[in-house]
Amino acid sequence: MKVVRTPKSLALARSRVRGSVGFVPTMGALHRAHMSLVERARRECDRVIVSVFVNPTQFGPSEDFTRYPRPFSRDAALCRDAGVDYLYHPRATAMYPSGFQTRVEVPELAAPLEGRFRPGHFSGVATVVLKLLQQTRPDRLYLGEKDFQQLAVIRRMVRDLDLNTRVVGCRTVRERDGLALSSRNVYLNDDERRRAPLLNAALHAGAKAARRRGTQPADVRAAMRRALKPMRARIDYLEIVDAESLKRPQRLRGRLRLLGAVHLGNTRLIDNIGLFL
Ligand code: PAJ
Repeated sequence: MKVVRTPKSLALARSRVRGSVGFVPTMGALHRAHMSLVERARRECDRVIVSVFVNPTQFGPSEDFTRYPRPFSRDAALCRDAGVDYLYHPRATAMYPSGFQTRVEVPELAAPLEGRFRPGHFSGVATVVLKLLQQTRPDRLYLGEKDFQQLAVIRRMVRDLDLNTRVVGCRTVRERDGLALSSRNVYLNDDERRRAPLLNAALHAGAKAARRRGTQPADVRAAMRRALKPMRARIDYLEIVDAESLKRPQRLRGRLRLLGAVHLGNTRLIDNIGLFL
């Protein structure tokens, strides 16, 4: 495995690659879920590129950019063992040299849900992912459903900008109690960790309510709030939306998605599940 630190050396390495390329963008602190994306890329592509870059422009001013975990040598070892060919780990100054100002916006998909609580977040994500795609030029881009809105925003961007990459959405990897794996789970203390699976349980309570005949979207939201009560978490949102548009549906029909975001102590958790009615 080769560790690459600059866009220029990545371009050189990329120009030498023959065969198909799979790309897994990450912010590091790699866990089993990241590695499941890597393993899928390994199976489906001739060469695999993983990026580790804690992207400053997708964090709000009061968010956890400075305390975000950065165990780089461990990440590198995991990638090496998983058969990654190139580990791309650029410095912020290489990604955003002075004078940088271009921004990618996917306004409608970025507006609801996360967008209401993290203004500018998806613009930061779309911009950095477009840069990473230009630098790595992958045939396939692997993203997790854990960040469902991010997946929707990037799919839209790839289509709208005619990028020659197939976006592969990968199922959410969970702990046995339902908690979705996240680099941020290390922030949870023991008590919070015990309460954390209630977010997933609340989404399932919402799905169960939605399946009952005559249920309205507002009833589903109420069922999720009720189920979340014992978690004693501050809710950002608990929503049921159309899985395509991410808008509130008129009626509970077709491909739907239940999504939630809560603050448990100082940790912000998100999760989502699908529902077809
Ligand atoms: P990060 O949070 O490190 O996640 C990297 C990839 O792993 C994303 O596609 C994310 O959806 C996926 N992932 C994380 N936890 C998962 C889980 N439990 N199950 C399945 N997939 C999971 O998402 C980002 O980084 C950044 O926004 C990035 C796309 C790299 C742009 O900076």
